[in-house]
Amino acid sequence: MRLLVHNIGCLATPLAGGAFLQRTGAWLAAEDGKITALGAGLPPEAQGAAVVDAGGQLVTPGLVDAHTHLIFGGWRQHELTLKRQGVPYLEILARGGGILSTVEMTRKAGLEELVAKGAGALKQMLALGVTTCEAKSGYGLDRATELKQLAAIARLKAVQPVELAATFLGAHALPPEYRENRAGYVDFLTQEMIPLVAREGLAEFCDVFCETGVFTAAEAEKILRTGLRHGLGAKIHTDEIDAIGGTELAGALPAVSAEHLIAATDRGIDALAKGGTVAVLLPATSFYLGKPYARARDMIAAGVPVAVATDYNPGSCPSLNLQLAMQLACWQYRLTPAETLTAVTRNAAAALGRGDRIGTLEPGMQADLVIWKAPDLDYLFYRFGENLAGTVIKRGRVVQEN
Ligand code: NIG
Ligand code: FE
Repeated sequence: MRLLVHNIGCLATPLAGGAFLQRTGAWLAAEDGKITALGAGLPPEAQGAAVVDAGGQLVTPGLVDAHTHLIFGGWRQHELTLKRQGVPYLEILARGGGILSTVEMTRKAGLEELVAKGAGALKQMLALGVTTCEAKSGYGLDRATELKQLAAIARLKAVQPVELAATFLGAHALPPEYRENRAGYVDFLTQEMIPLVAREGLAEFCDVFCETGVFTAAEAEKILRTGLRHGLGAKIHTDEIDAIGGTELAGALPAVSAEHLIAATDRGIDALAKGGTVAVLLPATSFYLGKPYARARDMIAAGVPVAVATDYNPGSCPSLNLQLAMQLACWQYRLTPAETLTAVTRNAAAALGRGDRIGTLEPGMQADLVIWKAPDLDYLFYRFGENLAGTVIKRGRVVQEN
């Protein structure tokens, strides 16, 4: 299966080595799902390849959404008034709402229902130019429901084109059954669930919500180290609201990524730089919770690889629009268009352990790309609030035409 994309008005991509390439009048060739050559000027003979005319538009790598809670039952629009009245996110959770009300709805939902809902979300994401997506469990907090969520993710891998990376987030909250027995729940995760999830190949990563009133840095360390021993890469939700040591832990492990980081301190940023840990920033969550925006510029200045993702979930970010997150990153974090594109391609792929295969347009990389309804990169950040993705290509095949 060969592919030739020609008449590319502007090809924009980060490069594995750290540079950023913008080339006008370009073409791209792929074979068996991988990029074989790129050039400018006259394209090579098509020789039986599928030919796609980019119409003089912008072409970038396919977008990677490195942080989503894709699988959940129900919605939480009933929290809107509370949130607008300023009731804090952690207080809603402490009252048994928030994550725990989604846990109740997810426990009740059937597998087929979760698969159908996830498929609907992935269809929308693909139409927005997302070709790879992380999906966390964490709305079961019991054996059967965590496995049901991971089974839904496994099923979705087989039936639609968006590539999925599964993350086990059993440590998303303390379930009601263990309210008086924190240590018991941590034991359940480390002794039963993590070994099981790893043995069954149901997840690539393990994640913990390290936050005031949720899991401490010491509990997170125990859980993530157990995951690492079982071959699950470490991720952590940390410094979303308070800085309680999770970011320092992420750098020290090191974790592949630390996510949220709104309240990150200089020490935390330093630890991420030392550990080579990717900072996965979630500007749409800052927007929706009315929180400050993470210190993206300081992180970049410190040499931390910065990724941007949606955090799609029913509580803190009920939006799956990664283009919107990119626009917020550009305007609120003050990232340049090139830094923002890097944050949703190369750095996001690195946060999913796929940096050697996905996230840049270079020979040998997977042929995942988007032909935009945009003449150049600036335009993506200029016409905010609309879907600007045109044709989406995954592993060298056209999978979406808007
Ligand atoms: O990343 N902060 C923890 N988890 C999610 C929110 C989950 C929810 O509110 O349902 C997040 O923001
Ligand atoms: Fe999250």
